[in-house]
Amino acid sequence: MSSRDRLRIAIQKSGRLSEASLDLLARCGLSFRRSRDKLFCFGESLPVDLLLVRDDDVPGMIADGVCDLGVVGRNVLSEQILGSGAGGQPAPFRELRSLGFGKCRLSVAVPDAFDYHDADQFSGMRIATTYPNLLADWLQRNDVSASVVNLSGSVEIAPRLGSADFICDLVSSGATLAANQLKEVAVVLESEAVLAAGAELPCDERGELIDMLLRRIDGVIQVRVSKLVMWHSPRSALESIQRLLPNGQQATVTPIEGLDNEVAVQAICNEAITWQHLEDMKRAGARQMLVLPLEQMLA
Ligand code: PRP
Ligand code: ZN
Repeated sequence: MSSRDRLRIAIQKSGRLSEASLDLLARCGLSFRRSRDKLFCFGESLPVDLLLVRDDDVPGMIADGVCDLGVVGRNVLSEQILGSGAGGQPAPFRELRSLGFGKCRLSVAVPDAFDYHDADQFSGMRIATTYPNLLADWLQRNDVSASVVNLSGSVEIAPRLGSADFICDLVSSGATLAANQLKEVAVVLESEAVLAAGAELPCDERGELIDMLLRRIDGVIQVRVSKLVMWHSPRSALESIQRLLPNGQQATVTPIEGLDNEVAVQAICNEAITWQHLEDMKRAGARQMLVLPLEQMLA
């Protein structure tokens, strides 16, 4: 492991993960100055720098020790982990966190007109993909023998060109499949952006920076869904109202001056709060209900 004293994170230069990756790091309190070539961002608030690269290059940069961490799709990381597993060596990467954005699926898709029932129909067929390891692994686990056609891109036109019968590719909105008269029939991998690291984390100052970053990322992910809920209610109704809160945490209960049996309550909820929840709480005796977004959170 190199003896850099600044932490380096690889993120996608341009594509579906770029903006959300930068946004996550900004919410963790990191700020950067971009170099002229826009490939390197120097960390100003902390000794954490960014390298902007092609998403497929992120795992390699971690494996080579050029970067300590990377934000990359689980699809890319898992494909390279399977690819590097040959020879029985342990995987050179690991997933530290799921980041909750860039959600998509790696799926097998067939022509719209194909009458699909189950994966046995893939038997003896040619499936084009840029994810040969993930597809081969899935076929093996499902006991299907199909041939994997490894392409470097433009997988969606392979059936029309006659170079494959089906495809296995990323699906997000589904627009690419629809535009190519294909339909998704089997999910090989559910994917989203993950924070990846090498098999071993550095134990110097960079290791401490990683620990701090992970705590902040956990806080950022948590505040996205958590809300502060406040209301007034009779003290006697408190328990039944609290039971209606989705994934509610210990509430803070405050007496209200001049109203003996009334209390003001505030509680953090770690799940989405719907109108239905509020209406149920109102029926149970809650009044003046407020649901507020959280800005920051540190457990
Ligand atoms: C993927 C995939 C499709 C498209 C699907 O490519 O190869 O072309 O996205 O998205 P849709 O369902 O919203 O139409 P991506 O942009 O991730 O590029 P890459 O695989 O080259 O990184
Ligand atoms: Zn890519």
